[in-house]
Amino acid sequence: MNDNVKIKGMGYAAAQRRINNHDFTWLDTSDEWITSRTGINSRYVTETENTSDLALRAALSAIEDAKIDKHEIDTIIVATFTPDMQTPSVASILQAKLGLNDCPVMAFDLNSACTGFVMAFQTVSAFIQTGRTKTALIVGAETLSKVMNWNDRSTCVLFGDGAGAFICTQYASKESMAHFANSRGDLEDVLSAEGLQIQDISNARPLTGGTLKMQGQAVFRFAIDAISDGIRQVIEQSKWSLDEVDYIIPHQANMRIIAHVASKMKIPQEKFIINLERFGNTSAASIPIAMAEAKANGILKEGHRVIMVGFGAGLTWAASTAVL
Ligand code: ACO
Repeated sequence: MNDNVKIKGMGYAAAQRRINNHDFTWLDTSDEWITSRTGINSRYVTETENTSDLALRAALSAIEDAKIDKHEIDTIIVATFTPDMQTPSVASILQAKLGLNDCPVMAFDLNSACTGFVMAFQTVSAFIQTGRTKTALIVGAETLSKVMNWNDRSTCVLFGDGAGAFICTQYASKESMAHFANSRGDLEDVLSAEGLQIQDISNARPLTGGTLKMQGQAVFRFAIDAISDGIRQVIEQSKWSLDEVDYIIPHQANMRIIAHVASKMKIPQEKFIINLERFGNTSAASIPIAMAEAKANGILKEGHRVIMVGFGAGLTWAASTAVL
């Protein structure tokens, strides 16, 4: 038997305001262009809630789904690149909002952009397998609307705000888990959002936030290779065949990327869980939102074998297997 990781509960939260394609009246774009190039029809954008508020709603829903006492949580990891503040971490803010201040909790954020949630799952799996963690809350949460240039039609129509969460615990199983992750830090220019600037303290100027910049076609080509590589790597490690995999949950960026991978790898498109048409690309939140929604809808069930596969800025990519 192996020390394995059980995803005991899942939850998700969408931001309050739904924006349909035809609502982008200030842009030179159209519903037809966005739908045909991306598969996205709508996305949710926050009006008042920050990243930790979305994370809280998703976390509460995951705790309820897992049927645990929240005080059992000893580890909180939040994958995000749009935190409430530079510091403290969203994970620490979330600990307070959950009312877990008196519990010993290891809380930290992890930034690997859209790959972040799979990296958080891999991190927590290692903690659980060594016994360091008994019950973990991992969250992918983003308020990407904060880093959007709302006049750049080539990026702002793609993204949305939301959060997804898992409760993970230890369990003994015959299955072994497979994880893969990689990075190409030299490709930072392909997808980036500026952080704080180094200041000339003798000539201080107002601080400016960075907006997201993306070379769309380069990301498109990278994404197809990254998803295919991630799937192949964990299939090889797990000794599963693709036929034995019930569902693949890819990062929800663009329908055409998923369709390309499905056709290139000869995987039926029905094996991919997709909800990007309603949520857009929510970066680190996209995989747990898709999984939690699919579980709530009765699509993902106990015993299913799944592959989560993410890609994003770094450039980074990662994949993990799990048995639900
Ligand atoms: N509406 C209308 N026209 C647009 C829009 C829009 N929203 N956006 C771009 N265009 C225009 C461009 O300006 C360009 O016009 P031009 O020919 O006059 O210069 C034309 O459409 C074609 O632009 P392309 O960039 O070649 O369009 P493409 O078919 O590649 O689609 C897209 C662009 C959708 C961004 C695509 O490249 C893509 O999906 N790339 C991957 C992006 C992605 O997945 N990013 C996120 C992944 S990582 C992460 O999640 C952080």
